[in-house]
Order: sequence, then structure tokens, then C-alpha cells
Amino acid sequence: MNLRTLGKTGKKISEIGFGAWGIGKSWWGTTDDVESLRALRRAIDLGITFFDTAYVYGDGHSEQLISRAFKESGAPHFIATKCPPLNMQWPADPRTPPEEAFPENWIVQCTERSLKNLGLESLDLQQFHVWTDAWMSRDEWKNAIVKLKKQGKIRGFGVSINDLDPDSALQLVDSGLVDTVQVIYNIFEQAPETTLFPLCRKKDVGVIVRVPLDEGGLSGTLTPRTRFEDDDFRARYFADGRLEETCAHVEKIKPLLGPYAPTLPELALKFILAHPAVSTVIPGMRKVKNVEANARLSGGTPLPERVLQELKKHAWIRARQPLDD
Ligand SMILES: NC(=O)c1ccc[n+]([C@@H]2O[C@H](COP(=O)([O-])OP(=O)(O)OC[C@H]3O[C@@H](n4cnc5c(N)ncnc54)[C@H](OP(=O)(O)O)[C@@H]3O)[C@@H](O)[C@H]2O)c1
Repeated sequence: MNLRTLGKTGKKISEIGFGAWGIGKSWWGTTDDVESLRALRRAIDLGITFFDTAYVYGDGHSEQLISRAFKESGAPHFIATKCPPLNMQWPADPRTPPEEAFPENWIVQCTERSLKNLGLESLDLQQFHVWTDAWMSRDEWKNAIVKLKKQGKIRGFGVSINDLDPDSALQLVDSGLVDTVQVIYNIFEQAPETTLFPLCRKKDVGVIVRVPLDEGGLSGTLTPRTRFEDDDFRARYFADGRLEETCAHVEKIKPLLGPYAPTLPELALKFILAHPAVSTVIPGMRKVKNVEANARLSGGTPLPERVLQELKKHAWIRARQPLDD
């Protein structure tokens, strides 16, 4: 497993990380804890050291499973979790005062709750689960982070950037107040390359790439006939013709598969790893076979330049979720 440095945290982490939303059992339909724990343990065995979770992934369930998996293992690890906004509003609305989303006592309370779930004294990385640069000029959240760092309750601080809006955290990255950002970047969504990634490199801010397989759209497992359970958020994500459109896009990408990437997930993950700003990519994984396939590709043949250039043509501009009035 190749390691990369996570920005100015200076920590070496695995370039393939573990996305732990699905194992939280809250949004992904039927999910089995026994299988999730097996996937976590296999990831640890295969050298995955970076785990991304959040309090809201099953009200602490994902954090607790990670804690259980590590109790039996002395392996090195880096765990990133997230503090939800108090108003539980996604995406962050620039019109919302930051005190409604991240008041100081809420940040402290959520951090302590996550520490307890994870069985840790200190978090490697605490991330705000939403962000808008409209909150830059206010001090309350900044004071909370400084205090938590001083107390040793968190070591790094980052934010998760609103879906399909990579430029909504540029001021924060430029300010030096943040160690990492988490952003959607994949074959379809290439916008972070324009401004966010160069700025992250300049400011030595770690980049955690989420939704690398477009919630399964780039996993090679979906067909126009795929149906999702009612409690699987993908029933909505792929609604209104999006599933058929996604499958049509994927058919156009398939001719680019080759010995350097014989499967679609491998092609999709290697596309992401080819960007020098990327610190780690965190596919969501609940199954051992997916952990094995994804861990195995690290250190393998990189994508040829010709394929990378061709993949650039497959960017697919999609509208960001509108804010409520
Ligand atoms: N706002 C935020 O901060 C935010 C939002 C979304 C996601 N995230 C983070 O980013 C992580 C990744 O995003 P995501 O989980 O939403 O979506 P994703 O990684 O784009 O897709 C996950 C899907 O891909 C499947 N998969 C993974 N590896 C595969 C392989 N080799 N072959 C076939 N299928 C494969 C998974 O299957 P199985 O689950 O069945 O193994 C799952 O159905 C999350 O887990 C979470 O940690 C953060």
C-alpha cells in the first residue's frame, strides 16, 4: 500500500482509505455488521490506515464499529470523523449564521461524543461536515478549534466541502486555518482540478477525495434495471432518469479499460490517484471483496497519460442540490 502525506498534518496515510458511511447502517439499505467488521479487519490487514467516518453515520454506529475493529489490532491508523452542523442542514447555506451551525459548545460536545464512540483520547482529524466561506469572518468556531487542539482532543482540523461546489472553501484553504479538505472528485466531477487543487498544493492542505465511484455509478455494478431499497438513499440519487443517464455515460468510458485498469472501479480510482494534490481516496466499502480489489490497485501500473487525457473528456456537469428558500 502506497502512503502519501496528509498535507500539513505531516502524517503518512494510505492512499486508499476506507469510506465508512455505508457501514453506519443509516442510508444504504440492508447492511450487515458482521460483514462490515470483516471488511474493516481485511482493510487493516491490507495496510489501509486512513478511515473516514462521521457522528451522523448511524448516530455513532460507524465510529463504534471502527473502534471495535481496532481494539483487536495494534496496526497504525489515522481516523477522521466529522462534527455535524447543529441545524442539521446540508448543504451549508451562506445565509446561515455560523452560530446556528457550529456554536462552540456544540463543537466541543460532538468531539467528546466521537471520542467516546471511537474509544480514543484524541481525534486525528475532526472535520466540519458542511462548510461555507461566508463563515470565515466569525471567530466562535475558530476559538473552539484552537481550544480543542490545545487540550489535545483533536490534532487536525478540516472541512467537508458542499457537493459539487469545490470553490466554496477557497478562502478557508487560503487562510491557513485548515489542515485538510474533503471533496467530491471523480471521472464525472473534475471541477476541483481548476482552482481548489492548485490552492491546496500551494497551502499544503491535505485532500481527501470522497464519492470516488459516484455512489456506485462508477462501480460497474449498476444497470438501467437496478432497483434500490426504499431506505437506500440511492433510490433518490439515481431517480428521474439519472440511473439510465449514468449507465449511458459508463458505456462510453468502458473502451478505456485496459491492462493498466481492467475494471471500472480500478480505472475510476486510478484516475483520482493520478492527481498530485490527492492525499487519499476513500471509496465506501462494506464488502471484503471490494476492500481487496481497491487495496490491491495501490502501487500497481498507473494510467497512461493518453488514458488520463481521454478521461478528462468524460466530465459530466451536474447541478448542485439547491438550497431551501
Ligand atoms: N458530506 C460528506 O462529508 C460525505 C458525503 C458522502 C460520502 N462521504 C465519505 O466518502 C466515502 C465514499 O463515498 P460513498 O461511500 O458515498 O460513495 P462511493 O465511494 O462513490 O461508492 C460506494 C459504493 O461503491 C461500492 N464499491 C466500492 N468499491 C467497489 C469495487 N471495487 N467494486 C464494486 N463496487 C465497489 C460500494 O459497495 P459496498 O458498500 O457494497 O462495499 C458502495 O456501494 C463515504 O463512505 C464517506 O466516508 C462524505
